[in-house]
Amino acid sequence: MSLAEQQEIPGMAPSALPVAKAKLLEGKRGLIVGIANEHSIAWGCAKAFHALGAEVAVTYLNDKAQKYVEPLARLIEAPLVMPLDVNIPGQMEAVFEKISRSWNSLDFVVHSIAFSPKEALQGRVVDVEREGFLKTLDVSCWTFIRMAKLAEPMMRRGGTLFTMTYYGSQIVVQNYNIMGVAKAALESAVRYLAAELGPKGIRVHAISPGPLATRAASGIPEFDELLELAKAKAPVRSLVSIDDVGAATAFLAHDAARLITGETLYVDGGYHIID
Ligand SMILES: NC(=O)c1ccc[n+]([C@@H]2O[C@H](COP(=O)([O-])OP(=O)(O)OC[C@H]3O[C@@H](n4cnc5c(N)ncnc54)[C@H](O)[C@@H]3O)[C@@H](O)[C@H]2O)c1
Repeated sequence: MSLAEQQEIPGMAPSALPVAKAKLLEGKRGLIVGIANEHSIAWGCAKAFHALGAEVAVTYLNDKAQKYVEPLARLIEAPLVMPLDVNIPGQMEAVFEKISRSWNSLDFVVHSIAFSPKEALQGRVVDVEREGFLKTLDVSCWTFIRMAKLAEPMMRRGGTLFTMTYYGSQIVVQNYNIMGVAKAALESAVRYLAAELGPKGIRVHAISPGPLATRAASGIPEFDELLELAKAKAPVRSLVSIDDVGAATAFLAHDAARLITGETLYVDGGYHIID
């Protein structure tokens, strides 16, 4: 995607929407869950998939989020914009039901959500109460497994499922705490789902971006220090953007990546290879 050719959208930064000459994902349709605002990783994915010609359905958490998500959804001409709070029983099912009534197949799902109650996230793992543990794993991991189940019958011609993870699943990252445990479970789920769904042509990936200043990240203490360290230590000496994450994710949805599955792809400037 060329930076030089980006469009100007009134009220948004000039680089708001990337433009790609080759519509490599034309004819593909997918769901992107997790746009809260224009800083969300899910928004970076939505822009990239749209630029490459895919049709993208999106969700918003609740009425409060709707006013931030709807203008973004209009920019990418999202044909379906639906409410989804995964804590509300039946809402995930309703989203997939609505999609199945509008589209006869689904090609990709991007799951870009995570949640942990403050007292669970900001304390030691050793102190986490059962309730906080269950809520963290439920929203941040189980919902991906359930979305895979709901997507499976719609991915008649195969497809790709994505979730967002972080390096704190592999090693102890200060302040990442219980979310590291949840991301380790999520990455393992990716491998099991990839093994189970591979025979149907459904591929499954975790994308592991370097730190990005999003709303979710603001819940992690001393996040600015993490950003500084990432920039100083990563081989490319640069922070990643949501557009970098979107482009890498969109590549894995392309048929050219048909033999790649079960991966955790790092989009972190190489940070994870450095001691
Ligand atoms: N920001 C980072 O540094 C970073 C790095 C690696 C991975 N990630 C992961 O990327 C994903 C997206 O986070 P982000 O950084 O873009 O932040 P974000 O705040 O923009 O997105 C988080 C999304 O989770 C959604 N969410 C939370 N609870 C929900 C619920 N009950 N039902 C439905 N949606 C719910 C929020 O509405 C929001 O859209 C998360 O999985 C996060 O762990 C973030």
